[in-house]
Amino acid sequence: MENVTIFDHPLIQHKISLLRDKKTGTSEFRSLIEEIAMLMGYEALRDLPLEDVEVETPIETCMTPMIAGKKLAVVPILRAGLGMVNGILALVPSAKVGHIGLYRDEATHEPHEYYCKLPSPIEQRTIVVTDPMLATGGSAVAAVNFIKEHGGRNIKFMSIIAAPEGLQRLHEAHPDIQIYVGHLDRCLNQDAYICPGLGDAGDRIFGTK
Ligand code: PRP
Ligand code: URA
Repeated sequence: MENVTIFDHPLIQHKISLLRDKKTGTSEFRSLIEEIAMLMGYEALRDLPLEDVEVETPIETCMTPMIAGKKLAVVPILRAGLGMVNGILALVPSAKVGHIGLYRDEATHEPHEYYCKLPSPIEQRTIVVTDPMLATGGSAVAAVNFIKEHGGRNIKFMSIIAAPEGLQRLHEAHPDIQIYVGHLDRCLNQDAYICPGLGDAGDRIFGTK
């Protein structure tokens, strides 16, 4: 699929396996989510714009490339997407952070919006939307719709685990955005949870249930 990257790096696969384990506790789970986000971000941000700046080395003055960092916005989908933000900020500390609050109705599995705040202006920025789980794709499609309605154009969506159904839905709704997936799982169950998945990502990050 064009514009879709599914990672096969052994470090990412190893850490995802640790995430899946129901014996993995909150503190380790949080650290793993952040580390995986950073490893995925390293690849997803390889086309970040550079600008030449003047630097004085001990030998001479030169023009040398640096990330035009103010061009990046990270937009987590609340709550679980928050867990990935620090992994991206470790790579680009000057990035701005927006928030999109969505929760899935337990019966219909449809997303409901409860909070949205994006950095302004959004048009010129590379926008990295984070959410560890891409299940039915409803939340991801709604988040990207919202960002586009506000003028966002250069959008990357990062999820750690995706179901085939959700990946296809997001790609069909927004074929122009870059989608990065840590692992493509088998399917959704009758409750729209990813199988084998890792359970409820938000609850495991924040220790709720
Ligand atoms: C989870 C997850 C995604 C969404 C994925 O969030 O973090 O946002 O479900 O499902 P979908 O692809 O079927 O829309 P949830 O609604 O449980 O909220 P939470 O992060 O606040 O727990
Ligand atoms: N949200 C989660 O947190 N886990 C799933 O498997 C599906 C949606």
